Amino acid sequence: MANNLITIDGPSGAGKSTIARLAALRLGMRYLDTGAMYRAITLACMRAGVKLGDGEAVAAVAKQAQLRCELSLDQPMKVFLGAEDVTGKIRTQEVTRNIHYIADVREIRDLLVAMQRKIGENEEIVTEGRDQGTVVFPNASLKIYMFALPEVRAKRRYNELVQRGQQVSYEEVLQDVAKRDYLDMDREVGALRKAPDALEIDTSELTPEQTAEEIVKLAKSRLAMRTRKIDKNTLDRMRKTSGLS
Ligand code: DC
Repeated sequence: MANNLITIDGPSGAGKSTIARLAALRLGMRYLDTGAMYRAITLACMRAGVKLGDGEAVAAVAKQAQLRCELSLDQPMKVFLGAEDVTGKIRTQEVTRNIHYIADVREIRDLLVAMQRKIGENEEIVTEGRDQGTVVFPNASLKIYMFALPEVRAKRRYNELVQRGQQVSYEEVLQDVAKRDYLDMDREVGALRKAPDALEIDTSELTPEQTAEEIVKLAKSRLAMRTRKIDKNTLDRMRKTSGLS
């Protein structure tokens, strides 16, 4: 693989997105949020009104969805369906609960995996998801498997949702986390697994900054990558858009 490419896989709520963004920012790489791609296709299928359990029907919607990702150096990744920016609309509990119908369909995974590989061919990225180090980029230069206790992940997700103004209970979120772990680890294609050559990081007792710094150190020592200083405005903007502050 010509480009430096860092994969971060792990269960939901391990803090992957924030950490991947922070690490990407420090390393001057772009951040690819592959969960957002599955979310956007889920939203397209919900809007199309097809039966979500019908694999053929959802695959047909996915092919027509005109999904596009806009990666940036210091902004969250944006996702579009056609001309519509759906970045904010894919973060509801309803979308989250329906994703497994979409993520289980082989044809949809093939479509998104191909898109992800194309992006990785053209730029240096930190990519985050469930199957990045195992299926999508088995030759990645650095692979991380990130996890945290389910209770810690549920608390983080709960805080995130409350901050966005959504009305949920902690118990409900904890149940969702357990269910998603099961669904993510049990799927026939693209299941969440640690790649044999991935390095494990337990984020239960680490802040996102500490974990990102761990990855940056690994990138410097193993890939001889250089870091860049981040000015305060960029960091503040990042904090605001990721719930870090
Ligand atoms: O990272 P996230 O919570 O936004 O991901 C949403 C869902 O998408 C997650 O429950 C599983 C699925 N997903 C996947 O199957 N493969 C990926 N590479 C990324 C996400």
